[in-house]
Amino acid sequence: FPPDAFALILGYLLGSIPFGLVLTRLAGTTDIRGIGSGNIGATNVLRTGRKDLAAATLVLDAIKGTAAVLIGADLSPEGAIIAGFAAFVGHIAPVWLQFKGGKGVATFFGCLFGLHWPVGLAFCVIWLSVAAITRYSSLSALVASAAAPLLLLFLGHGGEALVVGAMAALLWRKHAENIARLRAGTESRIGQKA
Ligand code: G3P
Repeated sequence: FPPDAFALILGYLLGSIPFGLVLTRLAGTTDIRGIGSGNIGATNVLRTGRKDLAAATLVLDAIKGTAAVLIGADLSPEGAIIAGFAAFVGHIAPVWLQFKGGKGVATFFGCLFGLHWPVGLAFCVIWLSVAAITRYSSLSALVASAAAPLLLLFLGHGGEALVVGAMAALLWRKHAENIARLRAGTESRIGQKA
């Protein structure tokens, strides 16, 4: 079996585990797809009022991206970026949820951290800075994700910059409703309940 194909499938399967949905179901909260933005990510889990579940969702959705990259790196020379990209796609389009997945922010960060941890750290700093100023989770993700491929390019990782750039483009696409709300001034701030 070709190692690159194995990295792709393994990455996708890991990424497609919808931790936000799994954790809130186990905890018996209301279906997060029916509250707030309807998203399955940590930001929307926080709208249930369960900070612990939101934190766990954030960590687990990130770890699956990092894990995919690290496992992929062991499989083939291009395995890390293939598995990372596949994990990201698995998160935003999981076969288990009729391809209606999350917006990819935590998994994007996890992949980035696995690929080049300093760039992952920079993503984190940018996200936190924009969030501290604006209290918008979506805007923070949009800015940080746009910066990531530029940083990779600047550091001489052209190939990875291209793939991460494609991931950022998909992330932006998944945030279409958020972008519309930001423009209309109706986007909810972090911590605001559903
Ligand atoms: O993690 C996704 C975030 O950027 C926006 O989430 O639920 O406000 O659409 P949400």
